[in-house]
Amino acid sequence: MKKVLIATDKPFAKEAVEGIKKIAQEAKYELVLLEKYTEVKQLLDAVKDVDAMIVRSDLITREVVEHAKNLKIVVRAGAGYDNLDLAACTEHGVCAMNTPGQNSNAVAELALGMMVYMARGCFGGKSGTELKEKTLGIHAYGNVGKLVADIAKGFGMKIYAYDPFIPEDKIKKDNVTPVSSVEELYSKCQYVSLHIPANDKTKKSINYDLLKKMPKNAMLVNTARKEVIDEEGMVKLMEERPDFRYVSDIEPGNKAVFEEKFKGRYYFTPNKMGAQTEEANINAGFAAMRQIVAFLENGDATYKVNK
Ligand code: 3PG
Repeated sequence: MKKVLIATDKPFAKEAVEGIKKIAQEAKYELVLLEKYTEVKQLLDAVKDVDAMIVRSDLITREVVEHAKNLKIVVRAGAGYDNLDLAACTEHGVCAMNTPGQNSNAVAELALGMMVYMARGCFGGKSGTELKEKTLGIHAYGNVGKLVADIAKGFGMKIYAYDPFIPEDKIKKDNVTPVSSVEELYSKCQYVSLHIPANDKTKKSINYDLLKKMPKNAMLVNTARKEVIDEEGMVKLMEERPDFRYVSDIEPGNKAVFEEKFKGRYYFTPNKMGAQTEEANINAGFAAMRQIVAFLENGDATYKVNK
């Protein structure tokens, strides 16, 4: 009997786990659960004899892959797979996948929610501002970026997007204005919503020089990864620009500086919350389990992200 492990430091909703279990049972697989683990050793022990695993932002390092002697496939139930050591997976013949698009709506809703929260002074009782007719820049027009644009249209925002990998006419079809450079996007838009992946090219790419181009009363909305931000540059800018605000679905490494210096101008979720909805857990969790069955039974490697 094949064994599948769900290893989630941040657990899926109960309904999602039950549904994943059902798909596993139908395939006659054994399903084991490791949730809210506190030490890497627990993960290393749990992976020892599994054929497949489903994870979220859990770190699947070389050490984990090397401990998982029977592992054939690991699926990151979500979009970003920067938490998987792809080289180690490839070397050990492990197929690595993600489940693109499955949790995008949850992330997009949170991006807009955080924008409203900050524009309204964290609901603290003082007069705030509205999103209507403000400019919004979508930095990377993938699954989440497109949904952010869709929702923001309902707010009456003027929407621009920069994505070198998406043809301009595809962006225009959505009534979004494409721009030809990152610099142009940041210069034009009071709000920028980030949807770039974290990789060697993008890490620390959102830096002081770029952010300072943003117009007055700017707000950066980060539901991507903290690694893409040049955190020192961000602090320098916020010191210089009292009008600048930053909301992020993950705490930066230098959160203490924000607490000390920038009260009322930032908001950070305590634990990455973008994809933390019942619906997103069901969509991404079920997709992950189905992809595992399709791979193990029929060799279907759609969504494979390693070589
Ligand atoms: C993703 O890349 O899909 C999101 O960042 C969600 O991450 P999570 O599964 O850890 O909530």
